[in-house]
Amino acid sequence: MSEPITTTPGFDVEAIRADFPVLGKPLPKGMPVVFLDTAASAQKPRCVIEKQTEILETCYANAHRGTYQFGAIIDDELEGAREKVRVLLGAEDIDEIIFTSGTTMSINLVANAWGREFLKPGDEILLNEMEHHANIVPWQQIAAEKGAKLTYLPLTADARLDLDQLDDVLTDKTRLVAVTGMSNMLGTINPIERITAKAKQHGALVMVDAAQSVPHLPVNVVNSQIDFLALSGHKLYGPTGIGVLYGRRELLETMPPFLGGGHMIDRVYRDHSTWADPPARFEAGTLPIVEAIALGTAIDYVTGIGFDALRAHDAQLTEYAHTRLSEIPGMKIYGPAPEHKGGIVSFTIDGIHPEDLATQLDRKGVFTRHGHHCTMPLHDHLGVSATTRVSFGMYNTTAEIDVLCETIQFARKRFGLT
Ligand code: ALA
Repeated sequence: MSEPITTTPGFDVEAIRADFPVLGKPLPKGMPVVFLDTAASAQKPRCVIEKQTEILETCYANAHRGTYQFGAIIDDELEGAREKVRVLLGAEDIDEIIFTSGTTMSINLVANAWGREFLKPGDEILLNEMEHHANIVPWQQIAAEKGAKLTYLPLTADARLDLDQLDDVLTDKTRLVAVTGMSNMLGTINPIERITAKAKQHGALVMVDAAQSVPHLPVNVVNSQIDFLALSGHKLYGPTGIGVLYGRRELLETMPPFLGGGHMIDRVYRDHSTWADPPARFEAGTLPIVEAIALGTAIDYVTGIGFDALRAHDAQLTEYAHTRLSEIPGMKIYGPAPEHKGGIVSFTIDGIHPEDLATQLDRKGVFTRHGHHCTMPLHDHLGVSATTRVSFGMYNTTAEIDVLCETIQFARKRFGLT
């Protein structure tokens, strides 16, 4: 058994837990919540909750529309949040930061705006089987429309990208490589800089799905030569309904809009329109203003803790989870060794269906996700239809992993397994 709290140097997990109101509230039957589904959506710190209330109670108005006092405050707050995203990602220019509804919309925006304009028959988009459906389906759709072809970088036996085969699958027809920073099912952390370096040699762009990686790992889009990057606010301890697309300025400037409407135009005539510059060109309609502003608060909170401490805490939890889960008979953990993973562990147990296990865990207040986790090609590759996934946030402890493992052992007994 572990100590009741984790002991990452410089990281006070109990102080962090106190910042998350939901974690201090017992469940109806009196047991504490053990929240192990942060990869699906993170819990929110008090500062993020309070920022939204503050805006709604003191100065709410639409953005970029009114010159009255509330409108001016909102514009400053919104553009302040955009600047925080720019700094987080290491982007050069604030106009490279587009607010979207989330990672899915960001990837669809690139597929539709860039893909529809620039893809030609025979062009190739390089994917891999560990991608989330959000980084596969939009490319399938635009490839079908434009006559482009999807190619796949193979995975290694331990479910990492097989970079030794990158030279074989990257061709001079590869126009874009779409890759996740961190797998939402396996936790595998991908070596983005090695991929971008190779992609550039072939003149291909690189789009990174950073939904899972950005809450865990520092990123610098310039140093890493990333062309497009997508993230979701709700996985970064911010609100739902807000996300980001980073796009390199030279690319955004050549791209037509994806959605038409208010704010994205320069001039509208009866029969045609001209477009605003980025980012407005890609922000048609009213943004989730309050959520965008509170995303800025979430970024302050995360960076205030710091990625060194977050990564160390994450690594400790992942290593500990691998060790403890491996003690359980019939346990199969998918993906690479802990040192290649962020805070995600997916597994199956002989004799218990993942849905039955999730139900048993829920009864004891242990919240996990089960199913295919929007990664059907990856599950096909692994030869399994469903898994149980535990995923960690900054607030999780090794003691919670102990509760998870004890509850799994309890479930095994209930299912008659010895
Ligand atoms: N993409 C989120 C997950 O992996 C919803 O759970």
